[in-house]
Amino acid sequence: CGIVGVIANQPAAPILLASLKRLEYRGYDSAGMATLEGGVLDRRRAEGKLSALAALLLDQPLRGTTGIGHTRWATHGSPSEANAHPHRSGPVAVVHNGIIENYLELKRDLVDAGYSFESQTDTEVIATLCASMLARGLDCEDAAAATIARLRGAYALCFVFDGRPDLLICARRGSPLVLGFGEGENFVGSDAIALAPLTDRICYLEEGDWAVLTRSDVRIHDAAGNPVTRDVQTVALETIVADKGQHRHYMAKEIHEQPSVIARALGAWISEDRTRIACAAENVDWARAPRLTIVACGTAYYAAHVAKVWMERVARIPVEIEIASEFRYREPPLPDRGVTMVVSQSGETADTLAALRYAQSRGQITLGLVNVTTSTIAREADVILPIHAGPEIGVASTKAFTAMVFCLSALAVLIARKRGEIGLDEEHGYVELLSTVPRLMSETIALEPQFEALAHDIARSSDTLFLGRGLMYPLALEGALKLKEITYIHAEGYAAGEIKHGPIALVDELTPIIALAPFDGLFDKLASNLREVMGRKGRVALIGDAEASRDLAEEVWRRVEMPAVDPLIAPYIYAVAVQFIAYHAAVAKGTDVDQPRNLAKSVTVE
Ligand code: G6P
Repeated sequence: CGIVGVIANQPAAPILLASLKRLEYRGYDSAGMATLEGGVLDRRRAEGKLSALAALLLDQPLRGTTGIGHTRWATHGSPSEANAHPHRSGPVAVVHNGIIENYLELKRDLVDAGYSFESQTDTEVIATLCASMLARGLDCEDAAAATIARLRGAYALCFVFDGRPDLLICARRGSPLVLGFGEGENFVGSDAIALAPLTDRICYLEEGDWAVLTRSDVRIHDAAGNPVTRDVQTVALETIVADKGQHRHYMAKEIHEQPSVIARALGAWISEDRTRIACAAENVDWARAPRLTIVACGTAYYAAHVAKVWMERVARIPVEIEIASEFRYREPPLPDRGVTMVVSQSGETADTLAALRYAQSRGQITLGLVNVTTSTIAREADVILPIHAGPEIGVASTKAFTAMVFCLSALAVLIARKRGEIGLDEEHGYVELLSTVPRLMSETIALEPQFEALAHDIARSSDTLFLGRGLMYPLALEGALKLKEITYIHAEGYAAGEIKHGPIALVDELTPIIALAPFDGLFDKLASNLREVMGRKGRVALIGDAEASRDLAEEVWRRVEMPAVDPLIAPYIYAVAVQFIAYHAAVAKGTDVDQPRNLAKSVTVE
């Protein structure tokens, strides 16, 4: 989704519309805006493309110089007008990008207090919560601050208030927001592109910041409410168009984008009331499917590795995973009523496409999990499952990987329900668990300086080992792949229990060993494997939560303390860890991060 807000000295609606147009690349299925004319708040919303909103505005114009706008894409709930932003409750209108985890709890309190709702969205809960704070006598700024303080999740928000044409309040946690400074006018947007023709002076809000904008003044507060200043940059318009935001590389931007990407994927993969998984795979006869075969290449193959664990554990369905370039040449027998899923960011990878065609020729039901929904795989698979990661430019995949894993986890929950393995309450529990992922990813992103420091040491090595067990084994493989791809350092990922069968011979005081160590059911086993390595002078960098660190802190070489999470969702935050390690090691080495040598984003030859 895209957000924009203006407190201008020119009519707001045309500039909001033009900004939303520039956010079109984020895609949308509905759009809307609210402005204040003579202090009176009014809004227009339309289902479908931005042109539908533009047409509506021709018919029923919005006047005034202050306003907010939104383009909505595949968030939860249908693309109806009632679900479109801005959401309004009494004197408050809000646009929002992201996910509020505790919205049901907040909604319950508000319903008890006599408030009613016209949509099932979490955004309307934000607007209503803020309206309830105003009704208690708080002023707009305090009401917004008190509202923000009660939200748990990952979001970017922008508020306007009836009767206050001089005020706009915005906040970010997990989803980026950019402020733009004009002459007697100020702006806010999801990214600098949205603001490009309005101003070249911008500043990026940091995690947890919220800001109060008037025409003449911008005040920023940090998460603790303290006034802060953030660097204002002057940016050339042509560099804005390249859309790296405040980042040096697309890869960095794409790593940072993950909380919003996952929030968007979540919205697209759950029912409107957020209790069930809902996607196009609903109609497959999962109860009778004897097995699921997943075929992919590269990073997508490692995403399938994570999925195998989820599918087996949650859905109890046998899963085979295959490298696409090997699959069809073995001519594997495929069972009657079998389901084959290909996973591909681009949807164009030649081997993966050939695997899809092979499966179809053997009478399989085929699913295509893709990012590019206009791709060949999307056209040819029986069922298309979009991951909603948005365009991924960096050759080394980051957000597409976590979005794939996310959608595959959601699919595992759907299959579990279809096979009678879980009831509705358990399904709801999984949806709630998955809803915490964007926030946990932003908490992990906040650890970037620690990963960067570790990466500087890794950059000096010529070999690195990544170790993990269970769900961390595929993450170890993905971590090694990321490091190889962009730093050209030789790296291997291993199941930690397997290293004594060979790779332990590589261990010496020069080879960093990155251990992915959430405190899960396999932690004790992993700790023994690490002690075997450290007993042979191995230098272990422990990426683990507080519990894991408690056991091993004294013995290891380096340590980054991760948030403690349910082991099933650990892959998301450990993915962020290995991405940052590879990224910062590459920056330290000075390699071409976004376009590493010899690689291509999409490989359309065998
Ligand atoms: C190329 C890219 C990898 C990617 C693989 C599969 O090798 O460099 O990053 O994982 O293709 O791509 P796909 O588009 O099918 O996911």
